[in-house]
Amino acid sequence: MQYIPNIKRYQEMKYNRCGNSGLMLPALSLGLWHNFGDVEIYEHFRETIWAAFDNGITHFDLANNYGPPPGSAESNFGKILKQDLTSHRDELVISTKAGYLMWDGPYGEWGSRKYLIASLNQSLKRLGVDYVDIFYSHRYDPNTPLEETMRALDFAVKQGKALYAGISNYPAAETKKAAEILRNMGTPCLIHQPRYSMLDRWVEPELLDVLEQEGMGCIAFSPLAQGLLTNRYLKGIPEDSRAAKPHGFLTQEQITPNVLNKIQRLNRLAKLRNQSLAQMAIAWLLKDKRITSVLVGASSSEQLRNSLQSLSNLNFSEDELKSIDIILND
Ligand SMILES: NC(=O)c1ccc[n+]([C@@H]2O[C@H](COP(=O)([O-])OP(=O)(O)OC[C@H]3O[C@@H](n4cnc5c(N)ncnc54)[C@H](OP(=O)(O)O)[C@@H]3O)[C@@H](O)[C@H]2O)c1
Repeated sequence: MQYIPNIKRYQEMKYNRCGNSGLMLPALSLGLWHNFGDVEIYEHFRETIWAAFDNGITHFDLANNYGPPPGSAESNFGKILKQDLTSHRDELVISTKAGYLMWDGPYGEWGSRKYLIASLNQSLKRLGVDYVDIFYSHRYDPNTPLEETMRALDFAVKQGKALYAGISNYPAAETKKAAEILRNMGTPCLIHQPRYSMLDRWVEPELLDVLEQEGMGCIAFSPLAQGLLTNRYLKGIPEDSRAAKPHGFLTQEQITPNVLNKIQRLNRLAKLRNQSLAQMAIAWLLKDKRITSVLVGASSSEQLRNSLQSLSNLNFSEDELKSIDIILND
């Protein structure tokens, strides 16, 4: 089928400046961790990419190991890019990462220059592009000098294989150090990608302040807690859900009675706001101006369209915020 992008695609989306950089990112970005590997149906997820682009989502987030099998999300996205979006490459911000296990032996994970540069070259081939827009160190490596990892990111940028450098999952103190090292090399750290949702608020005590001080953007991953903060699990575990899939990272053990109780109560609150739980969970993150973008996943174009509607109500009353905190702290 031939894809013709929606000509009104830039009318509804909000674009936020990423830290102190020149780069604007959509308030909602799409991640390809799950649902875009070879185990899924190509024509089905191709439609999700279309729905994203048609609604102003310009940012697509990948990593070397996304699949399964690892690497297949990048290959599949590369195929869609070639089939449907070639003439729109300059309208897209494509990111990839290296840090987790990708191949056997001592050079297939963590933060060495050896691994990061080899992995980026592999990613470019799978994606079928000359450069990615953002290249991330996917996790902090306590056994590699931070200078080496940051020098590898700086090298990728200076080589033109990445336009910007980013870090993901770095604790607050290491984020500060990484930002300083990169700044001194003349390659500012554009962005941090931490996990952040109503059910996981580890970024709040320190990290968000560090990002603001360093002039870095923040893109929150797993904002729906992998599907927990949606209507998916309100009435059990659906067969086609992430928690039911053998390769899903959400396990059934994570769906505890306490979590279910919170979800039910949050869902009631979302209804009072005329939102789905997913929409409220996304809006709740975007209320903080330090959040540049919320990085959602989606197993269908319908889910993504539902999440996109969060943007039409991002305001919370003091009472609503208090009620949410009470539920989350229970
Ligand atoms: N840097 C890192 O270390 C890291 C780690 C994890 C993720 N990420 C990035 O963050 C992205 C998003 O992560 P995630 O997939 O865990 O995000 P998420 O948005 O928290 O969860 C996505 C899942 O929620 C469900 N869902 C989404 N929208 C829905 C809606 N409107 N209504 C009902 N259910 C809905 C779907 O579950 P079902 O599949 O069950 O339908 C979907 O697969 C990843 O793709 C990746 O790019 C980065």
